[in-house]
Amino acid sequence: MGYYYSAYVLFFLFLVRTVPTSTAPDHFLKTLKSPKPTPEAQEFFELTNPLPSDHLTPSCSLTIIHHSFANTINSPPFSTPYSPPSDCPPPWPRVVLELRVSSSGDQYDRIAAIWLDGAEIFRTSTAEPTESGIFWRVRKDITRYSSLLYEHKINVTMMLENVVNNIYTGVYDVHVSFLFYKENISPNGVRFPSIISPNKNNYELVTSDLGFFKTPSDLIIPICDDGKRGYWFKVESESDVHVKRVRFPKNTLQVVLELYASFHGNDEFWYSNPPNSYIRLNNLTTGRGNGAYREVFVTIDGKFVGSELVFPVVFTGGINPLFWEPIVAIGDFNLPSYDLDLTPFLGWLLDGKFHDIRIGVDDAISFWLVNANLHIWLDHGTSKVKAKSVVYNNPALTIERQEAFRLLDGSFRIKAKRKSEFAGWVKSKAGNFTTIVSQEFRVINLIRFYFNGTYKVVKQMVKAKRDSRIRADSGNLVGRAVTRRRYPLTVITSTVPLPQKDSLGSKKEDMYMLITNVSHALNERRINGDYWSILYNRQNSEGWMKVRGHSVLSGEASTWQRYNYRDDFGCYSRTVLAYNGKLIGDNTTFSCASST
Ligand SMILES: *[C@@H]1O[C@H](CO)[C@@H](O)[C@H](O)[C@H]1NC(C)=O
Ligand SMILES: *[C@@H]1O[C@H](CO)[C@@H](O)[C@H](O)[C@H]1NC(C)=O
Ligand SMILES: *[C@@H]1O[C@H](CO)[C@@H](O)[C@H](O)[C@H]1NC(C)=O
Ligand SMILES: *[C@@H]1O[C@H](CO)[C@@H](O)[C@H](O)[C@H]1NC(C)=O
Ligand SMILES: *[C@@H]1O[C@H](CO)[C@@H](O)[C@H](O)[C@H]1NC(C)=O
Ligand SMILES: *[C@@H]1O[C@H](CO)[C@@H](O)[C@H](O)[C@H]1NC(C)=O
Repeated sequence: MGYYYSAYVLFFLFLVRTVPTSTAPDHFLKTLKSPKPTPEAQEFFELTNPLPSDHLTPSCSLTIIHHSFANTINSPPFSTPYSPPSDCPPPWPRVVLELRVSSSGDQYDRIAAIWLDGAEIFRTSTAEPTESGIFWRVRKDITRYSSLLYEHKINVTMMLENVVNNIYTGVYDVHVSFLFYKENISPNGVRFPSIISPNKNNYELVTSDLGFFKTPSDLIIPICDDGKRGYWFKVESESDVHVKRVRFPKNTLQVVLELYASFHGNDEFWYSNPPNSYIRLNNLTTGRGNGAYREVFVTIDGKFVGSELVFPVVFTGGINPLFWEPIVAIGDFNLPSYDLDLTPFLGWLLDGKFHDIRIGVDDAISFWLVNANLHIWLDHGTSKVKAKSVVYNNPALTIERQEAFRLLDGSFRIKAKRKSEFAGWVKSKAGNFTTIVSQEFRVINLIRFYFNGTYKVVKQMVKAKRDSRIRADSGNLVGRAVTRRRYPLTVITSTVPLPQKDSLGSKKEDMYMLITNVSHALNERRINGDYWSILYNRQNSEGWMKVRGHSVLSGEASTWQRYNYRDDFGCYSRTVLAYNGKLIGDNTTFSCASST
């Protein structure tokens, strides 16, 4: 990267000039035209492990959506009826959603989601297209939404908020199908985790092997908006807390809230937002403030029941869009959702009355898109179970904020920790089971500005653990679900001014150079009953770009990524290297020995 280093020298040469005030990282549009446009559309992808069902032939596939998303902003979402395929009736041990998207022209990354009867089943974002076109394909196992997939004549809804005009020309052509699998064992003998189809008469199956989603839930209640602009709640501030009133069936055995959240606008890079004091004292006009701590929380009847520090997904226009081609950033095509076990609270939820479930984001600024699904498992042997909440231990969040700055230079540090524990028992026909849930997270966030605010370093580490244990009357542990996650993130952004006039003296307004490094990872260990998995997924990117306003005019970029996954069935490891939009290295192995 010879060019890269000369650019770095430039940075020192121009240090003394006035530069655009550093509010980077930012959101950009690729407008650079390649000198020799390739005639063929290019494939983009996100590294992920193949689904166990990829070995199998689906019994049938159903086209769910075939739609072009053009100027859809502020319009109702796309909606169409869904019924199970008549040619392969249930049960299906596995169901997979397949999304195929293509686009060409100029366009920002866009956020999208798919809902079944108001329950979100998939959140994704788009890659930024090129003149010659791009396309991609994503698969997601949606077996956990089986209770909805079995329904007849419900609506499947998709929102992809896009803007199309003279400048933004990219339309996203979307094709979504559901693949239904009848068999659960692959021809080569690979076993699968014991996910079975809902068996309405066998409550013992549900409780004898409790973890999360050992069987799909019996009932899904969405905690969502009215659907006029998509079913997500739009959170524009900390006080913008949305509510849904829910009545729980009196024979509920287990309840898990699945949370979906993404951040946009002035909170797209929330982990890099300085405190408001810095913005105010420097007379900056940016809306990207409120510091760098965000926590998505859930309350029931005003009582805290859980929260999540979400993985900081960098969308494909983020920081430097040249980093995210053809490999997109971690999570872009399949944003993670988060499971919060609410079973300990059933003691006060089974009274047949309505309960207010609220979702909000601490310190949020506009805007977050959040909604959730309540997954409910029922005792089919009875119409009523007994339940009691016995432990509610929720000390306040500990948060320390330090700031030290002089004009545009300085450093900001946030250290936060939360640990809570909840427990409750449910006595049903299957027995008396006590669920003990503990959740704990720590976050450290550090932001430093140097060289009159033109050089910015953001470092964040999130460590989170969630543990659900289910004990029988005898005291024996009968189920366990543990998730540990770590999200390290480093973003370095250096803003370098460029000569504002060319050799003929005509103005080149607002041109500058951004030199950026991004390094981030999503590391996750899970235990679910007797099933375990470990994932290490890291990306390191570096490069520069010449920018006018929000348009990328030229640049150079490389991204290296290692994706390492193993579970008790095998290993999968893929390492890739992309340089200037081309894949120049790609090694895959299924061998467990080499996946280090
Ligand atoms: C620092 O940046 C500010 C705002 O961009 C600018 O007004 C000021 O002149 C700069 N100071 C130096 C020493 O370059
Ligand atoms: C599906 O959507 C249509 C149009 O938005 C609406 O009229 C209808 O009531 C919906 N059906 C269900 C089952 O929600
Ligand atoms: C911000 O504006 C106020 C009022 O115009 C001025 O007194 C102050 O010096 C400015 N601060 C900076 C850092 O430019
Ligand atoms: C269920 O188990 C818990 C813990 O062992 C116990 O305190 C509670 O009394 C039991 N409930 C019933 C109805 O037996
Ligand atoms: C980015 O990382 C490279 C290699 O690790 C380093 O040489 C370079 O100085 C970094 N760039 C910035 C802007 O810090
Ligand atoms: C792929 O493997 C080859 C041979 O071991 C190695 O030279 C190359 O650097 C690897 N590529 C990546 C992206 O890891």
